[in-house]
Amino acid sequence: MPKSAYYITTPIYYVNDVPHIGNAYTTIIADAVARYHRLKGENTFFLTGTDENAIKVAAAAKDRGMEPKAFADQLAEQFREVWKTLDIQYDGFIRTTEPRHIKVVEAIFSRLLEQGDIYKGNYEGWYCVPCETFFAEGELECGKCSSCGREVEWVAEENYYFRLSAFSERLLAHIEANPGFLQPEFRKNEVVNFIKQGLRDVSITRKNQGWGIPVPGDPGKVIYVWFDALINYISAIGYLADDEKFNSLWPADLQLMGKDIFVRFHCTFWPAMLMGLGLELPKVFFGHGFWTLDGEKISKSKGNAISPAELAGDLAEESGARLDIALDAVRYFVAREVSFGLDGDFSMKSFRNRFNSDLANDLGNLLNRTLSMLNKYFDGVIPDPKHFSGGLAPVIAGASNTAAEAFDKLEFTKGLEAIWSIISAGNKFVNDMKPWDLEKEGKTDELAGVLYSALEVARAAAIMVSPFMPATAMEIARQLGIKDQFASLKWANVNDEKPFAVGTKTQGPDPIFPRLGSKKKEDKPKVEQIPEEVSKAVEAQEAPKPADELISYDYFSKMKLKVAEVIAAERIEKADKLLKLKISLGDEEREIVAGVAESYAPEELVGRKIVIIANLQPAKIRGVISNGMLLAAEIDGKAILLQPENSDVPAGTKVK
Ligand code: MSP
Repeated sequence: MPKSAYYITTPIYYVNDVPHIGNAYTTIIADAVARYHRLKGENTFFLTGTDENAIKVAAAAKDRGMEPKAFADQLAEQFREVWKTLDIQYDGFIRTTEPRHIKVVEAIFSRLLEQGDIYKGNYEGWYCVPCETFFAEGELECGKCSSCGREVEWVAEENYYFRLSAFSERLLAHIEANPGFLQPEFRKNEVVNFIKQGLRDVSITRKNQGWGIPVPGDPGKVIYVWFDALINYISAIGYLADDEKFNSLWPADLQLMGKDIFVRFHCTFWPAMLMGLGLELPKVFFGHGFWTLDGEKISKSKGNAISPAELAGDLAEESGARLDIALDAVRYFVAREVSFGLDGDFSMKSFRNRFNSDLANDLGNLLNRTLSMLNKYFDGVIPDPKHFSGGLAPVIAGASNTAAEAFDKLEFTKGLEAIWSIISAGNKFVNDMKPWDLEKEGKTDELAGVLYSALEVARAAAIMVSPFMPATAMEIARQLGIKDQFASLKWANVNDEKPFAVGTKTQGPDPIFPRLGSKKKEDKPKVEQIPEEVSKAVEAQEAPKPADELISYDYFSKMKLKVAEVIAAERIEKADKLLKLKISLGDEEREIVAGVAESYAPEELVGRKIVIIANLQPAKIRGVISNGMLLAAEIDGKAILLQPENSDVPAGTKVK
């Protein structure tokens, strides 16, 4: 059977700990993408699973006094539980300790050995256990792992190697010939540079210490966990076991992962392995950014590895929302808050703000007020919209096109914004049409048309947000009285003409998103600011009191100035002075808004090193969240950027 389904994967997770909000991110997004493709009517296969043969899994088991397999069994089950709680609808779940996987790994190892892509040699070098990565001397940073900064160990072993160096040219040619293969675009350059630096052959075995897949015919060694793990993407769909299934799914349409495992493993090692096997390469690899929590790296040792379920539990308790709805709010937040591909910061403050503004005030309010009026004026029954002039149908149609185009390009923020534009249009329509006046004036037909149109928006929004907020969408459908048919609706049904049957009995309204208490200062609506106001706001923070306006060193030292590299720059619509800059701080990317558009064209800025205030409170400027502010001198209203004298200064360097 030829390829006939959309195939999407997440990385498989190490079972040394349960997921936190950071690593649940990949799965939440993958689930939304899979649901979106199902909603479009496509056959879809969504794969996730657990990576169990790692040394660190055995180490974590030992710490708890357990056998590795029993420990992995327990953790794999916990992963499934977490995904169930988050309503992750995967079609396949693979564990790398399963015989179906091990068989394929052994067969691939033997085949590549036979054809000369694997050979035996001696390995001497560094190994980072937490990252399960080999490093050459020059690849360490200050003697530590260049990826996680932890201690590395010296390894001197007879090993088998994968002849990665032989694939450089083919990999570069494939990348060149297939725009869109590596996304986002700015990460593609990292891969190209990594390959161009010269690929070294990779050691793909370790000494057998009692855990891992033994090398066929050489049981004193086990197969390197990354060689084993990457194979899950094909072993799980029947490679060498079920040709029909495999051919219907491979090549994968989208392989998602975080930026930490993008360049070296997924975009270099994995495609080379596939080339060695004569298999087609996946269509898209996407490397997303990293989440921090209140500006801090998320890690267990910092004690901030909060789980999505805990976050949702707190929100549900405080607001009174149902737990599944609060979980939807977490899913919505991570998709909406940060452009997919960039780094983001999770803070309770922004999470609460979004809950109150986007969910309670916009979406929830539209449904509640319309259903309340329907109860009051029509006993909660959908009336005949005789004077119905298509309502907001053109607005809905426009937004559904924009949202679909954005979701197809994995631009979730943009797609959700398009959906929210119709929710706002629906609320505005109700305000403008004043149904309460129509009722007083006895204009019953017009009144019916207005309420019908507002409900039409709620229904369209429910369909379109369902990939991100499945429980919410279903609850909206229940209150609209269309629960029974809702599950079978497709994206195309967004644009159904007269979507409600006259006489349908609606339910509620039961507020889906009870607003979080207004006492808390975090709940204040976000302020739209212009750049001058942003700088004034900085001055206003803990402003120094002395009359001479000198500031103390302590006060100054609170300001974090850093060198940043501009990765992308674009104009902001209807704001002549502003540019939106995507910047890198080395281990993090952000967006900032800068008032330099009159002095610099966007393309002049890309690649430049600049200096920014990195710990400025985020501000929304013309609809863009600005996470920092660049420094520039000003002469006659023209901005002149402050730049490090030497452009080799790495992005992220502190400025003192
Ligand atoms: N087992 C490997 C993947 C093998 S795939 C053949 C692995 N596992 S992991 O559990 O450490 O990480 C899984 C995913 O979580 C990766 O995509 C990683 O980038 C992502 N994240 C881990 N912490 C994260 C954040 N703080 N933010 C966003 N994603 C994060 O690597």
